[in-house]
Amino acid sequence: KNYKIAVVNGDGIGEEIVPAGISVIEAVAKKYGFTISKENFSWGAGHYLKHGEFMPENGIETLKSFDAIYFGAVGLPEVDDTLPAKDYTFKVRTDLEQYVNYRPVKLFAGIESPLRDKTENDIDFVIIRENNEGEFVQNGKILYPDTPNGVAVDTSMVTRLGVERIAHYAFKLARKRRKKLTNVTKSNTLIYSLGFWDHVMEEVSKEYPDVAYSKMYVDNASASFVLRPEVFDVIVTTNMIGDILSDLGGAIMGSLGLGGSGNINPENNYPSMFEPIHGSAPDIAGQNIANPIGQIWSAAIMLEHLGEIEAANDIMKGINATTAKGDLTKDLKGSATTTEIAQSVIDSILTL
Ligand code: NAI
Ligand code: MG
Repeated sequence: KNYKIAVVNGDGIGEEIVPAGISVIEAVAKKYGFTISKENFSWGAGHYLKHGEFMPENGIETLKSFDAIYFGAVGLPEVDDTLPAKDYTFKVRTDLEQYVNYRPVKLFAGIESPLRDKTENDIDFVIIRENNEGEFVQNGKILYPDTPNGVAVDTSMVTRLGVERIAHYAFKLARKRRKKLTNVTKSNTLIYSLGFWDHVMEEVSKEYPDVAYSKMYVDNASASFVLRPEVFDVIVTTNMIGDILSDLGGAIMGSLGLGGSGNINPENNYPSMFEPIHGSAPDIAGQNIANPIGQIWSAAIMLEHLGEIEAANDIMKGINATTAKGDLTKDLKGSATTTEIAQSVIDSILTL
């Protein structure tokens, strides 16, 4: 079997961790007898500086002919931080109807979580972030900014269709795991948009009586991530809350550089996109010291999505063996390089 993969390194450490991830994908492909035909697209903030846009106008059309998109991160300090989301990440996620953002949180062997008394069994849950609407629809206005009357508004948008489809995805996922779903919102203050979200979520919950459903406000959820992460199995939440909580998830795993994710189009009418949860980390770019594990984990999520389950499982075992051995990058107080970690994961996979 051959898979057509669009590869978008993006900016900063994307240039280093994406090739590291590709080397792992190629190793498991060889082991399991499938092939990858990849095409590289040098899109992102670098592209913007040269051409005035993050990707060409036909970029989305181009991506549609692939089986999946393997992405690093976009953003450079000299380009406004609000641009990348609008012009690449958000655009791909919405135009390709990748309405599920799947973000697992898990403590790997040999890594010390900042939550000292917590073990691998305590930190093992998945954040399902609504990926197409909510607080991030970028519908708003700034009026009279440089006058005493300056005022700005952002509109958050929640639709019945949007909540129903993310709810069904989350409940089905909970069914495959420990059958527990926590709906995290702030509907006590965002009473319209998130009140409606809760209302629809609760309706859908009736169709899954075998899943223990509860809701929690995000302030409490943030504290619970730190104090009792073991209460979570699957979390379903909005676009912005999911964005923020996943960095906290990365932190309790030990480093932001460990988190992998999938922007998933469950209907598969368009390709899904797989990327680490972090950004382009310009502060450490170009030194071969970035942690590639989040990028490599994203490769496992991609292969699982494509149906290469054994290859995906091998990658997860490879990551775990690597961290267990103490092969760690600087963010985890180790001294291994980006390329050494990728090689260590490959070596572990080949000896499984
Ligand atoms: P960031 O996630 O890039 O970095 C935050 C901190 O975590 C930095 O200290 C960085 O060195 C560290 N870090 C992140 N990934 C790491 C890794 N793999 N290994 C070791 N350390 C790692 O977030 P920041 O600094 O807020 O944003 C930098 C740029 O990335 C901005 O232009 C931002 O817009 C963009 N960004 C892009 C995203 C995307 O393309 N999906 C997501 C988030 C931010
Ligand atoms: Mg984020």
